[in-house]
Amino acid sequence: MRVVILCGGESPERDVSLASGRSVARALLERDHEVMLVDPAAVEPVLAGPLRPGDVLDAGVVAKEPPALAEREQWRRRMYAALTGGPVLELLRDAEVVFLALHGGWGEDGHVQALLEMAGIRFTGAGSGACAAAWHKGRGQAVLGAAGLPVAERHLWKPEDGAVPEAVERLVATGPVVVKPVADGSSVSVYRVDSLAQFGHVAAEVRSSGVELLVEPFLPGREFTVAVVGDQVLPVVEIELTTPLFDYAAKYQPGAVSEVCPARVQPDFASRLQDLAHRAHRALGFDDNAYSRTDFRCDSRGEPMCLEVNALPGLTATSLLPLAASGAGWTYPELIQRLIGLATR
Ligand code: DAL
Ligand code: MG
Repeated sequence: MRVVILCGGESPERDVSLASGRSVARALLERDHEVMLVDPAAVEPVLAGPLRPGDVLDAGVVAKEPPALAEREQWRRRMYAALTGGPVLELLRDAEVVFLALHGGWGEDGHVQALLEMAGIRFTGAGSGACAAAWHKGRGQAVLGAAGLPVAERHLWKPEDGAVPEAVERLVATGPVVVKPVADGSSVSVYRVDSLAQFGHVAAEVRSSGVELLVEPFLPGREFTVAVVGDQVLPVVEIELTTPLFDYAAKYQPGAVSEVCPARVQPDFASRLQDLAHRAHRALGFDDNAYSRTDFRCDSRGEPMCLEVNALPGLTATSLLPLAASGAGWTYPELIQRLIGLATR
């Protein structure tokens, strides 16, 4: 099959996405697909291709911090131009399927999906509506809460709008909180805040960026993630943290945290997490051709709370979806083949 992999892109998770793209390319080559690797935000968008079985591709690791946001506007301009006309669009039209290895921003919030839908181009993963619903963590949690799924108290606040709302002050006064951008992935700019003074520092740091923040209680319990691929719910993964938060560095340094699949939990607790992940997938509009990964953290009573549903979870060597797939007995190339299969059935 002729597959164009889209990776890179304009988001702070660009480097993660480039690593996912290379890993996916290697897997597709093993299965004898014709593969092009394309970064629509790059000056030279075609990174490699058509690749042939046996071509060696460095799958790379992602260890450095996200790239400077100042470049984002430029990436966006290139990406828009590439996806709406010219040789990249021709490549996409010529492909039998476009594999989305993008993460974050336009790649995961539904923008790219909407363009591909409008152009009638087949692609992997969820459609634009589900992506948009899941991408804004605050609104996503509101939908999950309305569907009866367990979510923590949460507040949204844009520091540039002025004073800290009273409800946020009250929450910060009751104990540690987590502060994160409402719409970003890979724990870019996620902070644990223990006092109002600290909260003020974080707010001052992000004020000029215009970012909207999600403020939620710090959940002290165990952390889990559960992937859904089509109509199959994969085994539960536990992230055993050695740091207070599963942050960007911990996510992409091999060995920085221990990730266990299947998680060492009672079978009924695992089934409960799997049921919650499946319900979360459905509640946000993911269908049987889509895949997702729902993150959970437990409160002080050990009760799991849904943090978010990821529409394009990472596919790097240290990412969680491939680990969950291995727990189900699927090799990495099998997982990628299944994602293609869902998009082309
Ligand atoms: N946002 C990253 C790619 C993940 O969810 O794995
Ligand atoms: Mg995420």
